[in-house]
Amino acid sequence: MHRRHFLGTLAASGVLPRTALSQQAPDVLTAATHRQQILPAGYPETTLWSFDAAFPGRPLRARQGDRLALDVVNDLPQPTAVHWHGLRLDNAMDGVPYLTQAPIQPGETFTYEFDLPDAGTYWYHSHAQSMEQVERGLYGPLIIDEINPPDVDQDLTLVLDDIRLNQDGTIGEFGNFHDLSHAGRIGNLWLANGQIDPAYPIKRGERIRLRLISAANSRIFTLGLAGLEGWIVALDGMPLADPQELPDQITLAPAQRMDLIVDVTTDDDEAFLITFERDGGYAIAHFPVSGAPSPKRAKPDALPANPDFPIDLQNARAATLLIEGGAMGGMRAASVDGEQLGARDLAQRGLFWALNGTAGRPEDPLLDLKLGESVRIGMANDTAFPHAMHLHGVHFAEVLPDGSLGPLRDTILLNPQETREIAFQAHNPGDWLFHCHMLAHHQAGMGTWIRVS
Ligand code: C2O
Ligand code: CU
Repeated sequence: MHRRHFLGTLAASGVLPRTALSQQAPDVLTAATHRQQILPAGYPETTLWSFDAAFPGRPLRARQGDRLALDVVNDLPQPTAVHWHGLRLDNAMDGVPYLTQAPIQPGETFTYEFDLPDAGTYWYHSHAQSMEQVERGLYGPLIIDEINPPDVDQDLTLVLDDIRLNQDGTIGEFGNFHDLSHAGRIGNLWLANGQIDPAYPIKRGERIRLRLISAANSRIFTLGLAGLEGWIVALDGMPLADPQELPDQITLAPAQRMDLIVDVTTDDDEAFLITFERDGGYAIAHFPVSGAPSPKRAKPDALPANPDFPIDLQNARAATLLIEGGAMGGMRAASVDGEQLGARDLAQRGLFWALNGTAGRPEDPLLDLKLGESVRIGMANDTAFPHAMHLHGVHFAEVLPDGSLGPLRDTILLNPQETREIAFQAHNPGDWLFHCHMLAHHQAGMGTWIRVS
């Protein structure tokens, strides 16, 4: 275990008071520029774009079955839109510019209003110029409480990110072609809830629900807990039917979430959330520990299931998605707005990736599905980089090699040259984006969509 050394100085861990979880959905959310101390004390502040002058945006919290209503006010210098990541909501409220709504122009307000059929850990973020807007800070947690939540002593949300900051506090420039054509935009600083290695006091004997959310642009986190033991109870908001013992290392790709229920078992005076890097493990958050020793408790019950939309694998329509492009890839050409362009012309437009031969969102959907129909999509990653494919509007299950279905997710990581198959029931009508959540890749062409009607 090493403490993170930042810019050659040992950062005094920037301990700030935790934002209290608001009990009620607010009715206005304002996107605007905002200054906050991100670098260690003594370094300049950073100018961010954030919701309601907080980074991350304040937790929005509601109860399963409620309706959320929010006026999003755009006080930014750019058009924006807000996506409610992972919610199986009304398509018109999905927040994708030019697919589900016109972008919210500077000075304008857009009202989002939708039902919340599912409990779980979600997040909200800008979906306009998201490579830039999410990196500048336009994201926050969105927690939907179960009607009967599990009995825990603390319910703690950690939104993880990596940000690329200069020593003067400014955010690293955007649009460099290396980010777009390689592994995406990787930061030089890890953040949990907008802070470097924040502290969350815990007591031995406590049972804690830990909600991990990755808001990272492109980084794939490999995480572990030291001093806490427990179970994975949900992935991407959806409960696991059978909680899984927490392994030593867990992977959190961009946009993915993981709910843990853990017990405080350490005899040490600190526990850690660790990010594993090539040269060892670093604390991304830590937990000062007090209280008398206490053993790990019994396995928790599964969280109550969300509404089920069974997948009919036998009669499912089959489709394929070929992922091509990027540095060291073999892509020679792709179609853009119906025109076939060679690699050099694509690069000139900042396009480096293609899905089924098309770079950028195509005019026609990848799939035009009937409501209630089941579909399976075999995805082949014919590139030298990993990709975190995210489908809006539904959750899918992975079709495992033995033909069974894995847990429901909304974002799946495909490693280089890997082939994975997903399946879902098209239960939610509308036009749904399907894209790589490595936001640099999405910007550089990795986006398509499906229609359900
Ligand atoms: Cu987190 Cu297309 O979204
Ligand atoms: Cu990607």
